[in-house]
Amino acid sequence: DTMLFRRSIENNKLNMVPPSDWTSGFFPGILWYLYEYSGDTQFLSAAKSWTNTLKDQCYNTSTHDIGFIINSSFGQGYRITKSESYKIVMNTAAESLASRYFDDIGCIKSLDDIGDLEFPVLIDNMVNLEILYKAWRWNNNKKYYKIANKHALKTMEKHFRSDFSSFQVVDYDLNSLLPRYRGSFQGYSDSTAWARGQSWGLYGFVLAFRETGDRVYLDQSIRIASYILGHINFPADCIPYWDYLSPDIPNTPRDASAAAILASALIELSSYSEIKQPEQYLTIAEKIIHTMVRQGYFNKPNEYENFVLNQGVGSIPDKTEVGVPLIYGDYYLLEALVKYKNLKINEKL
Ligand code: GLY
Repeated sequence: DTMLFRRSIENNKLNMVPPSDWTSGFFPGILWYLYEYSGDTQFLSAAKSWTNTLKDQCYNTSTHDIGFIINSSFGQGYRITKSESYKIVMNTAAESLASRYFDDIGCIKSLDDIGDLEFPVLIDNMVNLEILYKAWRWNNNKKYYKIANKHALKTMEKHFRSDFSSFQVVDYDLNSLLPRYRGSFQGYSDSTAWARGQSWGLYGFVLAFRETGDRVYLDQSIRIASYILGHINFPADCIPYWDYLSPDIPNTPRDASAAAILASALIELSSYSEIKQPEQYLTIAEKIIHTMVRQGYFNKPNEYENFVLNQGVGSIPDKTEVGVPLIYGDYYLLEALVKYKNLKINEKL
């Protein structure tokens, strides 16, 4: 069924979701990475088919997740094939995302109708900025550049604590335009540090630096990386617990998805010439990958519907998808491996 997308395994059952789910683009994205990594054209034709089934999502103005959905499918497709038709879909998606921007606050509203929240902004919204930066450069449309930068700068100001850990959500008051709530839906508590959120934040500022070359984003990336890698609860095997401040550490789940996103962001951060000691980031990314392969995070072939990683954590507070394969864990692991391969090839040139 091409209108249902693999998301996770829960209670030994494959959990499939519709195109509007925030995770729908990751399966097509995985197919693009498999094609890029192997050159096997079976993956190319599957990637094209699964990507095309998501096309209508580019008109979806009801969520910031359009960035995840369209960038991981059409964005990867464009990067690899340079097909104009993919670019058109990316541009339309950028316009849809931009429609959620509210200049008085300086942010894109992440989600609608979340309890009594007025204008919720999630840390993972940083990752969605990629389609705006791309649309800015492709079309020389400064509106997208302005929106993405305003959102990123406001996120730096309001989402981060003085130690550079981040809140998952900041809800803005539509009258005062100031935060009325700062906390976490998926972390242990409002004052702790949900692991995937820390990875999203790092990933988002690394991509903002890549797209703009603005040093302010590189400095923020370095500070976030220092928080994560220097944390007393960052384990020696480098797979984060689901919340860096869970009081149950070490007797609480790891989150392999947070680790995969972190590995991808660290490999990219290590590749920037401005970074003085790139090994500090690359070594940790290598360790994450080695731990995953060698210490029980990898599924055996044909196990778990062929998901690659296990031990991801969707949401412990909601008691959903805990200790299971997650499609975004697999996607960011493959992305990390492709980035790593390209880094090593460039080193040899
Ligand atoms: N973007 C939602 C999550 O990371 O669970």
